[in-house]
Amino acid sequence: MAKYPKFLMEHFQNPRNVGEISDPDGVGTVGNASCGDIMQIFIKVNGDKISEAKFKTFGCGAAIATSSILTERIKGATLEEATKISEETSKEVLSQLPKEKVPCFTLATDALKLAIEEYRCKQTGFHEKGGFDSKEMEKD
Ligand code: FES
Repeated sequence: MAKYPKFLMEHFQNPRNVGEISDPDGVGTVGNASCGDIMQIFIKVNGDKISEAKFKTFGCGAAIATSSILTERIKGATLEEATKISEETSKEVLSQLPKEKVPCFTLATDALKLAIEEYRCKQTGFHEKGGFDSKEMEKD
């Protein structure tokens, strides 16, 4: 059995921020191609800061622990800071995870990236599926 560092085990046994935000400003959903598991991260943005972050996953213990850590760390951060925190957490966690569990961690960072992108798209009126919102384009 793979050995995990204490802080990861603690987050796995007592995960924070599990669940979803009913009215999120951004949602990122990604799948792990190697195992078929899914991760969703929800963010609420207040002003320029992430006021709330939650996650739901069908993933393994490593996915749960790393999502718990990441959602804890980004709360109160600006979107730019959250991106930096995600990169720094990647460096810290990936060096301590067994190689086969690396995709489980990147689920959380990828989902966060998509959640931030969705928030930014909503702010600019650009929607993933249909391009720019026609109502937004009529404003000028
Ligand atoms: Fe699927 Fe880890 S084995 S997320």
